[in-house]
Amino acid sequence: MPFSSICDEFELAGAAIGLGARRVRGWSCQEEQLASTAVCSSRDLLNRLKSEIQTGADPLGAMFTRLRAPDYRRVLGATFTPTVIISSMLGWVEARGLTPSRVIEPGVGPGRFLLGAGRLFPQAELLGVEVDPLAAMIARANLASVGFGDRSQILLEDYRFVTLPRIEGVTLYIGNPPYVRHHQIDSASKRWLTRAAAKLGYEASQLSGMHVHFYLATALKAHPGDFGVFITSSEWLDVNYGRLVRQLFLKQLGGESLTVLEPTARPFEDAATTGAIATFAIGTRAQRIRVSRVADSESLGNLCSGQLLHRGRFESESRWSHLTRKARQIPTDYVELGELCRVHRGQVTGANHVWIAGSHSLELPSCVLFRTVTRARELFNAEGVLSDDSCLRDVIDLPQDLDELSASERRCVDRFLRYAKKMGAGAGYIARTRKTWWSVGLREPAPILATYMARRPPAFVRNLAEARHLNIAHGLYPRDALSTIVLDKLAKYLSGAVSVAEGRTYAGGLTKFEPREMERLIVPNVALLTSAS
Ligand SMILES: C[S@@+](CC[C@H](N)C(=O)[O-])C[C@H]1O[C@@H](n2cnc3c(N)ncnc32)[C@H](O)[C@@H]1O
Repeated sequence: MPFSSICDEFELAGAAIGLGARRVRGWSCQEEQLASTAVCSSRDLLNRLKSEIQTGADPLGAMFTRLRAPDYRRVLGATFTPTVIISSMLGWVEARGLTPSRVIEPGVGPGRFLLGAGRLFPQAELLGVEVDPLAAMIARANLASVGFGDRSQILLEDYRFVTLPRIEGVTLYIGNPPYVRHHQIDSASKRWLTRAAAKLGYEASQLSGMHVHFYLATALKAHPGDFGVFITSSEWLDVNYGRLVRQLFLKQLGGESLTVLEPTARPFEDAATTGAIATFAIGTRAQRIRVSRVADSESLGNLCSGQLLHRGRFESESRWSHLTRKARQIPTDYVELGELCRVHRGQVTGANHVWIAGSHSLELPSCVLFRTVTRARELFNAEGVLSDDSCLRDVIDLPQDLDELSASERRCVDRFLRYAKKMGAGAGYIARTRKTWWSVGLREPAPILATYMARRPPAFVRNLAEARHLNIAHGLYPRDALSTIVLDKLAKYLSGAVSVAEGRTYAGGLTKFEPREMERLIVPNVALLTSAS
């Protein structure tokens, strides 16, 4: 075993000091205290360590991992990042053509990201933040050994609360925020998370791990023009507590890409954790977010490959990891329908016998009646284009604020509401979850309507009648404006191309397409739809 002469943390601290740890700015009292118990290393050992570090190895970090018991390291989430992952993350910075004036590694550990970034950006200031004095000393020793001591600084502080010096130019935030579970996080820290998130208008969960704290701290510290790349466990993509990170990713952080390592990849030797790498550019708002999923760390590349997905899909979904899954090969010039349109199920009334107009509602004014697709057969019968709404029924959709109505309209509506209440329309679950029980809240007319449950493929219908739809149909709403020609061709393509095999088939042969499943249908992209005759 190399450097077996280092047997404990005192000797490790001694080696770090011998390699010039003290020369790196920010030396702290706690490190000085640790230094007072350190055991000096021989010149021969120091020379060997130095030459190893200069070849890109991290013998001190490796010894730290060996000497510190896993239980002890877990408290601070001290799992260091393998070189192959660091190279990929720095590869993204290079590929983006970014040149930072400063590189910050939050939770610096032995400073592996700073070492890599220091080689790539010879002019950049290198700043690490760390709470563990021994890890901080090792980062200093590593930086000093490769000649980066003069442009480096290590702050022995909690990253969440540290005040970063202001600089000219852009800062790169890069690293592997500690994976510490919520039950090891003290209540004062949790209160900080709640308060700091609230300042940005978000709610934070008390179940959040430390990586959520680091993401939030970064969003609060970074400035427009700064950018970053973090690897963390992938849980935040899907779990409730990860909502805060998902919101920050879309807004304050300016998320650009997500790369998920398959759960079987085991990206870290000494920790059974998953991996998700997020890249971000503060102050930007990417219209499309790149996603990919790789089998192992060696396949990460420079994080620039993968599929571009419309940001709307991330904004509207509460779980993200399935978006990183590529279900099947998508031919050139084709995309998932979700790239072009958001699919919304129609509104549920909770009491169709009351809210679908009929003899019980004859006196209601026309301003509260909306032509609506209320039966799937109305779409099947339309044979591709719904231009005549005379076959449809009206749905009663009252304004939330009834004072908007004129006095005479209001009298009719009040009489109707007394009837509706008597029929139990205000007491059902759906009515109780609405802001006002009397307001069904129909969606705007969708330019394409689709059936989604039948023993035959869905009917996709151009909605020229501008009808609303109840929950027997889905509405396809363009994410960005689509011309009439494109909408016509899209509906026509879908009508001919979608088979029952793409939906979920239930006993009895009933096939169902949930909105998200429908968004995964493969369709020609806008250019192809425009050009196709
Ligand atoms: C997952 S390790 C990553 C180390 C290094 N960046 C790497 O990737 O190899 C996380 C590091 O964060 C440190 N850490 C934990 N809590 C911290 C906090 N609140 N502020 C600063 N550093 C912290 C740990 O001591 C540990 O060294």
